[in-house]
Amino acid sequence: MSQLTDEINKRRTFAIISHPDAGKTTLTEKLLLFGGAIHVAGAVKSNKIKKTATSDWMEIEKQRGISVATSVMGFNYRDHKVNILDTPGHQDFAEDTFRTLTAVDSVIIVIDCAKGVELQTRRLMEVCRMRHTPVIVYINKLDREGKDPFDLLDEVEEELKIKVRPLSWPIDMGQRFRGVYNIYEKGLNLFTPNKQQVTDRIAITDLESGELEKHIDPAQAGKLRADLELVEGVYPEFDRESYLKGEVAPVFFGSALNNFGVKELLDCFIDIAPSPCPIMAEERKIDPYEEPFTGFVFKIHANMDPNHRSSIAFVKICSGRFERNKNYKHVRMNKLMRFSSPTAFMAQQKEIVDEAYAGDIVGLPDTGNFRIGDTLTEGEELHFRGLPSFSPEQFKYIENADPMKAKQLAKGIDQLMGEGVAQLFVNEFNGRKIIGTVGQLQFEVIQYRLLHEYAAQCRWEPINLYKACWIESEDLAQLEAFKKRKAQFMAKDISGRDVYLADSGYVLSMAQQDFPKIKFHFTSEF
Ligand code: G4P
Repeated sequence: MSQLTDEINKRRTFAIISHPDAGKTTLTEKLLLFGGAIHVAGAVKSNKIKKTATSDWMEIEKQRGISVATSVMGFNYRDHKVNILDTPGHQDFAEDTFRTLTAVDSVIIVIDCAKGVELQTRRLMEVCRMRHTPVIVYINKLDREGKDPFDLLDEVEEELKIKVRPLSWPIDMGQRFRGVYNIYEKGLNLFTPNKQQVTDRIAITDLESGELEKHIDPAQAGKLRADLELVEGVYPEFDRESYLKGEVAPVFFGSALNNFGVKELLDCFIDIAPSPCPIMAEERKIDPYEEPFTGFVFKIHANMDPNHRSSIAFVKICSGRFERNKNYKHVRMNKLMRFSSPTAFMAQQKEIVDEAYAGDIVGLPDTGNFRIGDTLTEGEELHFRGLPSFSPEQFKYIENADPMKAKQLAKGIDQLMGEGVAQLFVNEFNGRKIIGTVGQLQFEVIQYRLLHEYAAQCRWEPINLYKACWIESEDLAQLEAFKKRKAQFMAKDISGRDVYLADSGYVLSMAQQDFPKIKFHFTSEF
């Protein structure tokens, strides 16, 4: 096996996603503990922006600062290189999370056993489903009272629209929680509430042998046997292929806070999760094992410190080997660029690297050359797809509040939109700029950053819109007729695509009825 193949095979690049408070940060931290990347619990700061602090700017800045360090966390475990990509917890930054999901090969979903499947989890799972991303489910907080495990599995199947296959099973919960039986490795893990230590596994291959009763009380042993029998009866054998296709999600139970069920999860993850997968570019499919380097920018992190203006562009390496100081082609700008200080993220340290491989993420210091979705290659004209924009939920007109600074404002808006902070639509009828966001917080971020980074002042004006729809049709006459009829509501997005801004659900459904040959899409990629 060549060194390149060997390195790529070792990579496991994934994201942990959850509804806020389900335990994503806690689980991340425990995984890092196992990987030896950190040595004490509490070292990973949550990057979630507390709900109470939505307009507390210092807080947000602080949090953003922290999240650069924790954007990608790499560590070695069992001769594998694990890359965890962090996703922002605050739902107003959901679009960031969606884009991060385009850079991973698999996902772990954390669910709170008392709350079950929540809104944010459902939305994120939709993106995974669109992309056929393999998912593993970790049901957390078994040390608390929660829903019945079978009910939880039904809920996951129904709400997340994916088949499940438990690979571990809890023995009771809450105060009576005794541990989990590891179906995957056939062993018992007994629960000792301890935030730092790992429990030893007791191998029990024959559940009928009476061995169980030596460790847990007979009633619980009986219940466990009955549950496991039901599990085997109801759920088909675990099949790795179905997991890799995104059809079946293996499920683990545990308590991340108590470091419980985490090692089993990690061990199984290393065994079954995919190494870097091929990625579709507009031109062709890119295989990770191809020698020439290719990669795309999925995230740009602005440095909010005015003394260090440069930002970091996060590049997912799609194929080959990336090398420091080598010339690469920035396809959109058609120019060669060299990077003398690319950074990688190991054990929470940002360090300069000489090389990185498909599956890895490198951070490239940037002074405004990069936009989300930009491609780097060794010369080939490639454009990576699959960085969808979703219809925003909130819209406002953005107006210049300082006539002397019109240029700065235009530049600021252009760059912030390139970073993917929000979406810009230019109304074709009156030329006014409309900003679309997922939540109110982004409007605040934009206004603040325009002022502090571009010395430009903006003013928001209300506009009543319901959804942005990207439209297309093979029937060009109908498309033209539609654009004419809806002239006041037609706009262009940042890439020049036609967008219809519907002002109400009713108007939208009427339009869909009146123009049956037009397709209305709620994402920019279809
Ligand atoms: P998030 O990143 O998904 O938003 O969740 P995070 O890990 O921050 O966890 C949310 C809360 O749930 C935290 O409590 C955390 O300690 C708790 N938690 C995580 N895993 C478990 C578990 O297995 N059992 C129990 N009982 N609680 C768990 P907090 O009070 O909000 O924060 P903190 O003060 O403990 O940091």
